Amino acid sequence: MAFNAVEEGRTRVAREDAMQIYGQNPLPLFNLSLTLSTVALSILLVLAFSVGSHAEHAGITRNFEFNVTYLNISRLCHSKQVVSINGQLPGPTIHVNEGDRVIIKVTNFVDSNVSIHWHGVRQFRSGWADGPAYVTQCPIQSGDSYTYNFTVLSQSGTLWWHAHITWTRATVHGALIIHPKRGVTYPFQQPDDEVPLVLGEWWNAKVEDVFTEFTAVGGLPNISDAYTINGQPGPLYKCSTKDAFVMDVTPGKTYLLRIINAGLNNELFFSVANHTLLVVETDALYTKPFSTKTIFITPGQTMSVLLQANQSIGKYYIAARPYASAVNASFDNTTTTAILNYQGSSDSAQPILPELPEFNDTAFADHFDSSLRSLPTTDYPVNVPQTVDRSLFFTVGLAVKPCPLNHTCVGPNGNSLAAAVNNVSFVLPHVALLQAHYFNIQGVFTTDLPDQPAQLLDFTGKPPKNLEAAEGTKLTVIPYGVNVQLVLQDTSTLATENHPIHLHGYNFFVVGRGFGNFHPANSSSFNLVDPPQRNTLGVPAGGWAALRFKADNPGVWFMHCHLEIHNTWGLEMAFIVQDGNRPDQKMLPPPNDLPRCV
Ligand code: C2O
Repeated sequence: MAFNAVEEGRTRVAREDAMQIYGQNPLPLFNLSLTLSTVALSILLVLAFSVGSHAEHAGITRNFEFNVTYLNISRLCHSKQVVSINGQLPGPTIHVNEGDRVIIKVTNFVDSNVSIHWHGVRQFRSGWADGPAYVTQCPIQSGDSYTYNFTVLSQSGTLWWHAHITWTRATVHGALIIHPKRGVTYPFQQPDDEVPLVLGEWWNAKVEDVFTEFTAVGGLPNISDAYTINGQPGPLYKCSTKDAFVMDVTPGKTYLLRIINAGLNNELFFSVANHTLLVVETDALYTKPFSTKTIFITPGQTMSVLLQANQSIGKYYIAARPYASAVNASFDNTTTTAILNYQGSSDSAQPILPELPEFNDTAFADHFDSSLRSLPTTDYPVNVPQTVDRSLFFTVGLAVKPCPLNHTCVGPNGNSLAAAVNNVSFVLPHVALLQAHYFNIQGVFTTDLPDQPAQLLDFTGKPPKNLEAAEGTKLTVIPYGVNVQLVLQDTSTLATENHPIHLHGYNFFVVGRGFGNFHPANSSSFNLVDPPQRNTLGVPAGGWAALRFKADNPGVWFMHCHLEIHNTWGLEMAFIVQDGNRPDQKMLPPPNDLPRCV
């Protein structure tokens, strides 16, 4: 029974999705049904191409078309032209099942370059489809296409996709939902319905201009004018009375909210008035369910929560506003709302606002992140590396770098603001790192990012006098199969801040976290039993976090702060994970249509 309901629901959303993606054109719809009816052939194909030990998760092939087009849009009474996928904001939702092969043809119909990242997808051996510009591919030029091709394995839940070049992801993003393998149910109460809630950020100005202006002077970008839920700011903003996403619910039913923070520069608190949220999954990995009034979600993170429509019939606000951990920095302090609308509520009912934590409520953010635990199941055993082969200690924080020639910079002492990992501010090359690695192209990167800072200082105390970071394209080489421990240490240089660090191609276990400086003695209290597993983690402001992962996916994998400001300033690095000895431990060759580097 339950399975049928879920399966029906899934088919229905898949069909709606096809409408979204292909529009009303009957021919592509026909193509889609054709695709679905050739399941047997697809299974054969998937088996033929499946990766190593994961081959048992046979699925079907799902095809999508993403056209990068301009969209004229108006919010807060400001109209502008934005870059979009298929003219939608947020972009189309992708629904797949675990085990499916996903083929997305992206064609660029705008003037600027584009590249799409499938955030959180493990991309076993298929790094060519990961998407960050100049890391795994050169961007797709105007008029060109690139077909991303990957199989979704060993993960299930809510992920998302977004542009991965300059700040284009402000309007080029959408949900990527991995349903369980066919015939498999959730390890929690089966919901009656599922609703993606994409949290975004809106500027009245063109985001391209915001980007050009602040990068030219090495200063701070203009803050956003609004946050959005599924593209709508909600009635608390001026000129937005009607611009709210409405989620209709039936009393007594259970809903799975799939929440994505697609915002550029702000970590968010999120709550639904009068309702309790049961967290069941983060970053497409199941968690021990825990109930909370409010969730804390950083850019890059995703989370699924169950909501019971068990309150009296009426309207309730779904609301989000920022957690701003950097002292004295200006930020967009507005609140976005959507409406939870009970069937039978009167049109004139006034929604109730939830109580959200204060903007600087570090204690709440810390408590929330400390409450997460992974959920071991037969399908997803929790294999925390118990031993460490390679130990890394990376500082993550702000810095300055010299102002570029012929520019005037507004950072400290006429410098440009910067951000760095182990005091190296990352410089993106003009050739993709993965190509340089795979084809042995010299002179693109070096492999000398230090495993730890030159000096072990008091990183969170009085900031150093010398704020300047080095610049370079420095990578870290990891042999296949080793267990990596990585301690990320925030610094007080310019300001301590909660940094949402995202690792491509992997999930990692968060075995420990704390405030102040990390000390080796802290490792005695690491959780090696059921630590949360994520692809993006907020390193506590003025604190540290310790991660572990097994380097079982060869390729070049970007790791960076998911606050676009810090990303732009160079808070990035990349791992080269070498091929293993077995054929199924080696990278696949690049596809023929991989964009050329010009
Ligand atoms: Cu969500 Cu490197 O990105």
